[in-house]
Amino acid sequence: MGKDRTVGMWLYQNGGGEKIQKKLVKELRAREIETITGLNLRNAIAQNGNIICQSDCNKKKNIKVNKLDLFFSYNAGEQTQYQMYLYKALNKVLPTINNFDAFELTEDKFQTSFLLRNKGVATPDYKLCHRDDGHQLSKIMKKWDKMVYKPTDGWGGVGLTKIENEATLDMLLPFLNQMDLRFFYVEKFIDYDNTDFRVDIVDGKFVSCYGRKAGGKDWRTNISSGGSVFLREPNDAVVDLAIKAAQITGLEIAGVDIIYDRKKEEYVVLEVNGIPAFATPDQEKAGLSFNDKKIELIANLIDKQTKKEEK
Ligand SMILES: Nc1ncnc2c1ncn2[C@@H]1O[C@H](COP(=O)(O)OP(=O)(O)O)[C@@H](O)[C@H]1O
Ligand SMILES: [Mg+2]
Repeated sequence: MGKDRTVGMWLYQNGGGEKIQKKLVKELRAREIETITGLNLRNAIAQNGNIICQSDCNKKKNIKVNKLDLFFSYNAGEQTQYQMYLYKALNKVLPTINNFDAFELTEDKFQTSFLLRNKGVATPDYKLCHRDDGHQLSKIMKKWDKMVYKPTDGWGGVGLTKIENEATLDMLLPFLNQMDLRFFYVEKFIDYDNTDFRVDIVDGKFVSCYGRKAGGKDWRTNISSGGSVFLREPNDAVVDLAIKAAQITGLEIAGVDIIYDRKKEEYVVLEVNGIPAFATPDQEKAGLSFNDKKIELIANLIDKQTKKEEK
């Protein structure tokens, strides 16, 4: 038998997260791994070599997070700058899932697209320019016809603005100039059927695929923008693309968003998510049945990453 192993966990509790956490803890115990849940780094204090945190589940005990065998962070909605800061430090002294470097990369849409394009993965054409070079946007607008302005660190479709013509752009630019942004990031608007593929990958393996469809007149598929989830069989091209994108970003757990470009007749990767949600109880009822498989693959991954050499 190997040495005792203990991992720390911070997982979202809403939308069925609590149940997911229970199952994952059980799977880990079956692999002789103990779990300390509720390790919210929001409450942690770093002191010399230690990052000390009380678990939400046991307020009396101080945990030295840096002494654990692994830290599993999975809470998109509540992540703050402070938590990211400590997560980054922890990543240097123990394995973290996702590993911080990959997570940080995929939190930024430009950094991700730039890397993917350099490694031969199709993404929407994009342009990034300094805030003083707004005229670059007018130039590219002539070529693209329609484009999407995107905050590079956004989520849920928030802040995305479709720019249909030069007049809209001229109207938008003064507002953008007032916002004290460092740069502008725009993408060519892809002609697609308002549906996407969300492909979940864990440790390089395909977990699941479902689709999302934009609601009403909206062109964004995000649930928070009125989109809805539907069952969708993937094809080999979509699965291969997702596996490749996950591998390039370095994410152990990835949710890859893919749409089909009708003009270019190819699939493109819109973004890679580092905290792709499990199916909610409602979605499970509607037939999304991948949670158990995903939990098992994550447990195997944690097991693999915490295996200790027998002396
Ligand atoms: N270049 C694009 N062309 C057409 N639609 C897009 C483009 N980029 C994003 N979208 C739509 O907007 C949604 C949100 O974009 P995404 O880049 O995934 O940002 P977020 O992090 O906000 O989800 C996508 O799911 C897609 O429906
Ligand atoms: Mg998205």
